[in-house]
Amino acid sequence: MAFAHKSLLGIAQLSTEDIITILNVSETFYEISERRIKKVPTLRGKTVVNLFMEPSTRTRASFEIAEKRLSADGLNLSPSTSSVKKGETLLDTALNLQAMHPDILVMRHRAAGSPHFLDKHIDAAVINAGDGAHEHPTQALLDAFTMRRQGKGFHRLEVAIIGDIAHSRVARSNILCLTRLGANVRVCGPRTMLQPGLEKLGATLYDRLDDALEGVDVAMALRVQMERFGGDALLATTREYSRQFGLNRKRLERIKPDGLVMHPGPINRGVEMDPDVADGDRSVILEQVTSGVAVRMALLYLMAGGSPDSVTKES
Ligand code: CP
Repeated sequence: MAFAHKSLLGIAQLSTEDIITILNVSETFYEISERRIKKVPTLRGKTVVNLFMEPSTRTRASFEIAEKRLSADGLNLSPSTSSVKKGETLLDTALNLQAMHPDILVMRHRAAGSPHFLDKHIDAAVINAGDGAHEHPTQALLDAFTMRRQGKGFHRLEVAIIGDIAHSRVARSNILCLTRLGANVRVCGPRTMLQPGLEKLGATLYDRLDDALEGVDVAMALRVQMERFGGDALLATTREYSRQFGLNRKRLERIKPDGLVMHPGPINRGVEMDPDVADGDRSVILEQVTSGVAVRMALLYLMAGGSPDSVTKES
């Protein structure tokens, strides 16, 4: 039976069973990336357009690698290399791409809701690779996949998400994903970075980082979006931020002895966490990146109509 969704626009649309299915299918594709020849014919003849209207290293590279490993034909468009630079609207861009009959459109855009808008107008499946401060579903799925591969069960798993929650699509998608899987999610950050309504999503608010970290299985720091600040204000803000909300070795003593440190990247070293924490033995930050390829291979497979029941290592 095919996956129940034409597009992946957000975690909000997924049931617990959908999320478990995606994680299970990702296991198969994880193994392919460990082979000497990392390529299968699964998506031969399928065309994927990567429309990245905001900068990206991890998400874009891992989608491109996932497409190549699945033998799909991938095409990359960015604002500087497309007619968006000449003023073409997002809808016109998408309709013109649709006229070339791609199968999947992977999209990152600064405007919340833009993948949902395109999904209504085009036949191709749309995968949201991050829309404004709204959702980053593939990040949340790869984070959950990483936790599971590290031996963490989700039932009553304690996860602390720290930092700029208000502007973070990663936080929103992770809260939705982890609570659906049965985890307890704590959020902690400056009050100015905690938007109203977080409790309604299922998270518990903490003011003090030491309290938020006490006994957690996972400490996930988020990027402080420095591009929103400038000059002296930046220095003062980041110093103060690091003092109150930065992960350092002393603070890590509060998490469980086998607790994990995560970060979606890119990291501001010395701000969200000290370098010895980012590179330390609790950190699974680079494992998150490795998981990203497997999870995106699984999503491309499912969005192209692949059955979760018939995926095999020979796919
Ligand atoms: N985690 C993440 O989305 O990173 P990029 O912005 O580099 O894709």
